[in-house]
Amino acid sequence: MSTLTLTNFQITPLNAPLGAVVTGLDASQQLKPEVILQLKQTLRDRHILIFKNQYLTDEQFLNFAFHFGSLFVPPDDIPVLASQPGVTPVIIPVSNVDGGYTGTGELAFHSDHKWTPYPSSGSLLYALEVPNEGGDTFWLNLNLAYETLDEATKRRIADLQLITYNPFVRKPDTPRSKYRFDKSIPLISPVFPHPLVRTHPESGKKILYLDYATEVEVVGLDPQEGSELIEQLRSHLHQPQFYYQHKWSVGDIVYWDNQSTLHYRQAFNSQQRRVMKRVSLAGSRPF
Ligand code: OGA
Ligand code: MN
Repeated sequence: MSTLTLTNFQITPLNAPLGAVVTGLDASQQLKPEVILQLKQTLRDRHILIFKNQYLTDEQFLNFAFHFGSLFVPPDDIPVLASQPGVTPVIIPVSNVDGGYTGTGELAFHSDHKWTPYPSSGSLLYALEVPNEGGDTFWLNLNLAYETLDEATKRRIADLQLITYNPFVRKPDTPRSKYRFDKSIPLISPVFPHPLVRTHPESGKKILYLDYATEVEVVGLDPQEGSELIEQLRSHLHQPQFYYQHKWSVGDIVYWDNQSTLHYRQAFNSQQRRVMKRVSLAGSRPF
């Protein structure tokens, strides 16, 4: 019975710039409305939730995830991780074995689906097998990154719009660029400018809505000025005071707010297995 589970239910904020750990909750069971509301409130305040000791079937994982929103489905003409034309798996295998995605390399700080018109509100990543070392994931608090900007910079960026170019339409043999200087590159996928300073749709908090390495362009600024501004903002946001480093255990589910955080993954040894499953939830048009 779930009453037994709830006796030990506990949410403990991490001693870190974001995050809270949830113990004593079995996500395969029916959850009380108060519990779900408390989780949603904590996500709003702490940006990521770490659920410990979960052992779920795919169906149970989805039933749990959909308490927090409906499935993220990209538009047909906009590729994202794991999408094939017209279909994206509901549960994405984030794994270095058995045809999974993301391999074993480092992943720079990013938020998922930022280049789409309605980027996902959040994702849940469920750890089934983890390497002995490496492969930690870091989450970074973009509200804190915004709040710690100096006032002149806040004023300067207040009304700017940013295009983030879709990394999944980049030709594999071309070097990665962090800023688009070259206007002659044909657009082979639609682009969606979003505010550089985003307002969180539930908390109202201001967010520096920028990732670390994806190719971007500030609308209306000449490339020299735009790229210098972006470099300055990126060096500001890449500071340990804004992030939490998570060492995975089997049975962890991390649910992150994709609107107010970035995430980064360390590389790990390709001889080791790292097997995870991800579900992403639908979001809304950034404002
Ligand atoms: C993702 C992702 C990070 C990781 O699934 O969106 O970035 O730690 N994964 O595997
Ligand atoms: Mn990601």
